[in-house]
Amino acid sequence: MLPKLLSLQQPRSCGQGEAVRDSEHFFIVVHQSAELLLGQVVGDLIAVARAGERNPCDWAEVESRLTRAVGIAGLLQRHIEVLEHLPREHFHAFRAQLGTATGGQSEQFARIFAMLGRGEPTGSSEPGRDSGGMLEGPGGPPPAGVTEGLAALRQAMRRWQVAHIALAERMLGDAPGTGGTAGSAWLRSRLLPVPDPGSRAWSTRRACPAHIGGADPA
Ligand code: HEM
Repeated sequence: MLPKLLSLQQPRSCGQGEAVRDSEHFFIVVHQSAELLLGQVVGDLIAVARAGERNPCDWAEVESRLTRAVGIAGLLQRHIEVLEHLPREHFHAFRAQLGTATGGQSEQFARIFAMLGRGEPTGSSEPGRDSGGMLEGPGGPPPAGVTEGLAALRQAMRRWQVAHIALAERMLGDAPGTGGTAGSAWLRSRLLPVPDPGSRAWSTRRACPAHIGGADPA
C-alpha cells in the first residue's frame, strides 16, 4: 500500500533541470497530502451530520470530531503557507504541464465549503448570517461547544482561503487561473463570510449527506 502511495508523485516537467522538477514534486506532494487530510475532514463532517440527525445525539462525539476537523484545517493552512518555498520562476516553468488542472476540481474541498454553507441562502438580509432556528435537529439544539466548534471550523477554512489567495496573488498577480477563472479576484469572491460566533447560523443539518453529495452550490 505505502509503495503505491509513494509512487504517485510524478512530475511532468522535463528538460528544465532538476531544481524545477523537484519544485514540481513539492507542489504535487502538497496537493496530495492536503487531499488525504481533507478526506478525514469530510468523513468527520459526515459523521457529525449523521449524529445530528439522531435522538439522543452524542454531542460529545460531535464536538470532538469538530475539534479534530479544526486542527486539520490549521494543518491545511500550513500546507498553503509552506508553498512560499516554491520559487515563482519554478512554478511558471512547470505551470504549462498543469494544462487546465486546478484546485477548483477538488471535490473534497468543494464538499467542505458546501457543508460550511457557502452560497446558501441564509434567511437573513445580512450576507452569511442566519435568522436562527437552523440548529434544531431531532436531538434538540446543540450545546454551545458544538455551535462554537462549527464556527471555529468555518473560521479556520476562511483562514485557509485567505492564505490561498495570498499565494495565488504572489504566483499569478492578476493573471487568470489554469481553471479559466479570473484568478485571485475570483477567489476573493468565494470567501466564506466572517463568522459570528454568536450567530445560530451553524446547522448540523447543513452538513447532511444529501447536501455533501451534490456539487458546490456556490
Ligand atoms: C502555486 C500554487 C497555487 C496557485 C497559484 C493557485 C491558484 C488558484 C487559482 C487561480 C484558482 C481559481 C481557479 C482557477 O482558475 O484555476 C484556484 C482554486 C483553488 N485552489 Fe489553488 N492555487 C495554488 C495551490 C493550491 C493548493 C496547494 C491547493 C490545495 C492544497 C489549492 C486548492 C485550490 C482550491 C480548493 C481551489 C478552488 C477554490 C474555490 O472553489 O473557491 N490550490 N487556485
